[in-house]
Amino acid sequence: MKLMDAHGRTISYLRLSVTDRCNLRCSYCMPEAGIAKSPHADILRFEELEQIAEIAVSLGIEKVRITGGEPLVRKGIVPFLGRISAIHGLNHLVLTTNGIRLAELAADLADAGVQRLNVSLDSLRPDTFRAITRGGELAAVLRGVDAAVAVGLPHPKLNMVVMKGVNDGEIVDFALLARERGCTVRFIEYMPAGRVEGWRERFLPGEEIYHRIASRFDLLPSGDGGTAGPAKGYRFCDAPGGIGIISAVSGHFCAGCNRIRVTARGIARSCLFADDALDLKPLLREGNRDDVAAALRRFVLTKPGHHRMTPGEAHHTPFTMAGIGG
Ligand code: 5AD
Ligand code: SF4
Repeated sequence: MKLMDAHGRTISYLRLSVTDRCNLRCSYCMPEAGIAKSPHADILRFEELEQIAEIAVSLGIEKVRITGGEPLVRKGIVPFLGRISAIHGLNHLVLTTNGIRLAELAADLADAGVQRLNVSLDSLRPDTFRAITRGGELAAVLRGVDAAVAVGLPHPKLNMVVMKGVNDGEIVDFALLARERGCTVRFIEYMPAGRVEGWRERFLPGEEIYHRIASRFDLLPSGDGGTAGPAKGYRFCDAPGGIGIISAVSGHFCAGCNRIRVTARGIARSCLFADDALDLKPLLREGNRDDVAAALRRFVLTKPGHHRMTPGEAHHTPFTMAGIGG
């Protein structure tokens, strides 16, 4: 079965957040003091998250990404992932993590059936990394990435949020890392999530990121469409590895958008930049699976054809990324 929206797009990808908590406080994601903890009862239980995944897969979702906050801080995450990976009809189970707990958990994640990881890594300099994450230890993340490779997972994709004057001096270093390791580094345009001050001054358009890399290395479009999402992919002509540029703000990838999101509180969102939201929790707690399925199917039809945000008129989005999982 295929899940179609009203604009002819096939919706095959669910991003499911399992917690809004995190063991870091990245400046682009959260205010320094962190965000108010959701009351326990507001956060979906693992069984409820599983039901959402199962229903979504029965409707046509083929790929599930587990996100947070930081998914690896939630107790019981490994057995939960094992149950998700066992859902009949699910082809891809992937996870986004900040990597802090990865060295410890990589083997368990692989055993649970996680197929691939995205690791957020915004600087290769310990001090800059510590400043961006407000206290994170770079070495822990690098150990985690190596551990993932050591247990036989594909090399994690590394996600770098590019901020002018903060880490944009490292764009070429990250491209070199991709070449050395034969991995993919994805450069993400800084999005105005929440009410982060000084967004505009730090915004660097994807096009500029591309030019800085293309002026150093020969790139070829890699043409990996499919479930890869909004990243424009390139490979190096003369080395393994590749890069992706995610122009969430300035780009126009909406036509190929294949995703929906569900937050840890059970709020479905059809687009990062749209205000519409469907609260699945009451439906789940009433216990009628068919109602949840029908509601989700109707909800997909409300997915806007195109988001309204451009760099010129960017409004601060009302959510924090920690609540929605990127
Ligand atoms: N702009 C761009 N990317 C962001 N992420 C979190 N907040 C932002 C933001 N304001 C990314 C993180 C992580 C993913 C979950 O979302 O880098 O890789
Ligand atoms: Fe945590 Fe990820 Fe937000 Fe950083 S971006 S504070 S690692 S949820």
